[in-house]
Amino acid sequence: MTDMRPVDANMTETSSKVATKTLPDAQTVTSVEHFTDRLFSFRVSRPQSLRFRSGEFVMIGLMGDPDPKTGKQKPLLRAYSIASPAWDEELEFYSIKVPDGPLTSKLQHIQPGDEIILRPKPVGTLVHDALLPGKRLWFFSTGTGFAPFASLLREPDTYEKYDEVVITHTCRDVAELEYGRRLIEDLKTDELLNELMGDGFWKKIRYYPTTTREQSPKMGRITTLLQDGTVFKDLGIDGITPENDRGMVCGSLDFNKDMKDVLEGFGLHEGSNSEPSEYVVEKAFVG
Ligand code: A2P
Repeated sequence: MTDMRPVDANMTETSSKVATKTLPDAQTVTSVEHFTDRLFSFRVSRPQSLRFRSGEFVMIGLMGDPDPKTGKQKPLLRAYSIASPAWDEELEFYSIKVPDGPLTSKLQHIQPGDEIILRPKPVGTLVHDALLPGKRLWFFSTGTGFAPFASLLREPDTYEKYDEVVITHTCRDVAELEYGRRLIEDLKTDELLNELMGDGFWKKIRYYPTTTREQSPKMGRITTLLQDGTVFKDLGIDGITPENDRGMVCGSLDFNKDMKDVLEGFGLHEGSNSEPSEYVVEKAFVG
């Protein structure tokens, strides 16, 4: 989910670090990991009062550059899905790096101990409450659209509510799959998660990674692979039906639009927090 507009605040500090520390919404970076020259993840302290539902997003950011005329700075905020589950002590985010992106060109340089701005108002539609009960849950993602599913894959409700969880992730190349691949692999040996969600909970997960611009075991856009039946053949599933299947979609605008058409084609209807139904969609952060 993205809001490309900077959010205004009347800040007048001249140094971004000093300015950030004076904000009531500052949080401290605890770790940073770079996956490729386009992708990185980081963890920050969690405001004690922050409650959210796994899959939701918040506005985060840094102070922008000083205005050349007035010297004033404004916070530069963007919508970011929380990649950590609701029960985690810290908050995790997964981000793209855009060389000339107003926020991510700066955000990619954060280090442990730095501070970022985090508005503690979580919202979003990629939540269990927005879906009617079903048997199989599908997470469809491209790129950093994996983030809300990194949260939901570590959420006990996901396994309590569904018999099977299919996570598809389409990226340009193999290296861009790494964050998701490792997260899913780590679920198998995570003692806390196995205790929390029941031993072997991860056996419900079917992981379906695909690449479009580099050779890998499964090539192609997930939209095409769903429409030509490849996914169902590969996973030994009859198909997607409104009776059994529920979907959550997170990626670029074009991807979301195409996935909506695919899911509507299978007879599923879009849901929301106020009107739960069979699938939900959210735009991944870009820029
Ligand atoms: P492609 O390489 O064919 O464009 P990006 O890095 O540009 O955000 O894209 C992430 C992945 O999402 C890429 O593998 C890209 O495939 C794929 N993708 C982009 N648009 C769509 C779409 N409309 N439907 C399905 N997959 C898409």
